[in-house]
Amino acid sequence: MAILLTGGTGFIGSHTAVELINAKQDVVIADDLSNSKAEIVDKIEQITGKRPAFRQLDVTDKAGLDAMFNEFQIEGVIHFAGFKAVGESVAKPIEYYRNNLDSMLSVLEVMRAHQCRKLIFSSSATVYGANSESPFKETAPTGNCTNPYGWTKYMIEQILFGVAQADPDMSIVLLRYFNPIGAHESGLIGERPNGIPNNLLPYLTQTVIGIRDHLSVFGNDYPTHDGTGVRDFIHVVDLAKGHVAAFDYARKHTGAEVFNLGTGIGYSVLDVIKAFEQANGVKVKYQFCPRRPGDIATCYSDPSKAKELLHWQAEKNLVDMCRDAWRWQQNC
Ligand code: UFG
Repeated sequence: MAILLTGGTGFIGSHTAVELINAKQDVVIADDLSNSKAEIVDKIEQITGKRPAFRQLDVTDKAGLDAMFNEFQIEGVIHFAGFKAVGESVAKPIEYYRNNLDSMLSVLEVMRAHQCRKLIFSSSATVYGANSESPFKETAPTGNCTNPYGWTKYMIEQILFGVAQADPDMSIVLLRYFNPIGAHESGLIGERPNGIPNNLLPYLTQTVIGIRDHLSVFGNDYPTHDGTGVRDFIHVVDLAKGHVAAFDYARKHTGAEVFNLGTGIGYSVLDVIKAFEQANGVKVKYQFCPRRPGDIATCYSDPSKAKELLHWQAEKNLVDMCRDAWRWQQNC
């Protein structure tokens, strides 16, 4: 039986496809290629020696999704597909709510029709909002999100808790990602943002390669060790391995369970800049700027629940993340 990855040619989806195939799982990908390229399937094959089945499909297309469930024997779904740009979600709330909620509901309806009961969902640390202090435990209050993107993650979490309650045979794992960065060490897959990057690492690597003039560091007056924002950066390959562990967990448990996927370590923006310079022997041109609206000072995980129950923990360090991100930027 195969595991269906919606959004499987995206940044996290493609790395997860690789790790699942490495773990001898059959992978089927559905992706509309709105934010990725079909050639990613070739790269996954190059890395693993095995080509996942691929169908170009917007998963809000229920008939198309149904056809995939008829074509393949789907054991479970890892649902990555969704719009993910925080700033864009503020400008286009209707599109974000429509797309992210619709795609999740379509997946759930088609899964139900085919009695498919294992689901892993890409949630985000953003659901913790500004409610409590780092390190965030899974039991920390959620909601109070600062943008529509975050609200879609929060709302889908609520939908999934309801679905698990209504059908006691469902196995649902909600993974709250912290800040995934880096790229596969082969340099063949990585993050490819559309237009001007919003996130730190793609902006930084594009600055060093000369596409951007300088990196703006948003705020140096936060109550952190050097005044810049602190985040829990996690290597995307570690994050991908977390999905393999989560699927295994879903095979053995029913109900809905939430896990943080982070390292538990907070690094500041300046820490990242310094690590990047040291790891790669380059200089990062940056300027301090005012705080970015909606940002919090510090956000890092307590990853102990994933360690205990998923038997997973992040293994790669900040230098690995910086080195792999730079290799990818030079290749892509
Ligand atoms: N930053 C800069 N300059 C930039 C970009 C970012 O200084 O050009 C700073 C931010 O202010 C922040 C840190 O770098 O302090 C990380 O910012 P990112 O935009 O890379 O990431 P965020 O923590 O804002 O957001 C990420 C994901 C969201 C997710 C959130 C969960 O992009 O999808 O983590 O906490 F919701």
